[in-house]
Amino acid sequence: MRKTLIAGNWKMNGRKAMAVELCSDIVKGFSELKGIDVAICPPFTLLDTVHEAIADSACMLGAQDMDLHDDGAYTGQVSAGMLKDCGCELVILGHSERRTLYGETDRSVTDKTEVALKNGIRPIVCVGETREEREGGQVESVVAGQLRSVIDGVGIDSFADVIIAYEPVWAIGTGLTATPEQAQTMHAFIRNLLADRDRETASACRLLYGGSMKADNAADLLGCPDIDGGLIGGASLAAEDFLGICKAA
Ligand code: 13P
Repeated sequence: MRKTLIAGNWKMNGRKAMAVELCSDIVKGFSELKGIDVAICPPFTLLDTVHEAIADSACMLGAQDMDLHDDGAYTGQVSAGMLKDCGCELVILGHSERRTLYGETDRSVTDKTEVALKNGIRPIVCVGETREEREGGQVESVVAGQLRSVIDGVGIDSFADVIIAYEPVWAIGTGLTATPEQAQTMHAFIRNLLADRDRETASACRLLYGGSMKADNAADLLGCPDIDGGLIGGASLAAEDFLGICKAA
């Protein structure tokens, strides 16, 4: 049985006071919910603040990216060891914004996945197609390519600790949500890709949907058999919206 995970990706948003208030509201609301996992992934500058604010709860802490190197002369970068030191249990890797704006590649996502696992941090590996790729009928080949790179690099056995997020790029921050049918089709496709390598791993792996998930569409998406949670952007920045999604789960 896969436990639903609702993870908030704050992206480049938040200041300390806002983080303390938002986390306190989320922790309060979350304490009334049972049977789901919740994670908050703030920017690096707020990891400590959020860690402290969720300390007495079951909420998990995650980061939004990391460098693939250990400590050393890598100005501006943050290592897996540093994230671990801040209390991170999760790290988002290969988000489409990292891929399109900052040159993240399948190769670097694969390398980072390996480093995260080695450091005991569970990666949330993001995959997804652009609107052009969908319109060009390349959805499956794009997503399969992104995923196979990681499977080939770290091995299917490591996927016991990997979480996958399917985030169609055209649905991110646009208000356009994939229909439950579109999302379920891709989640089933991803699970089948994993099952081609190992059936048991495939059925245990959590697959999150991301892209304009909100309280009012969450129940339909999360009701799909292969959707095991959500990676939430905009709606994770207001307690009521985020908790609405958690309740729907
Ligand atoms: P939105 O929920 O704002 O569309 O963002 C989704 C996302 O990119 C989560 O990683």
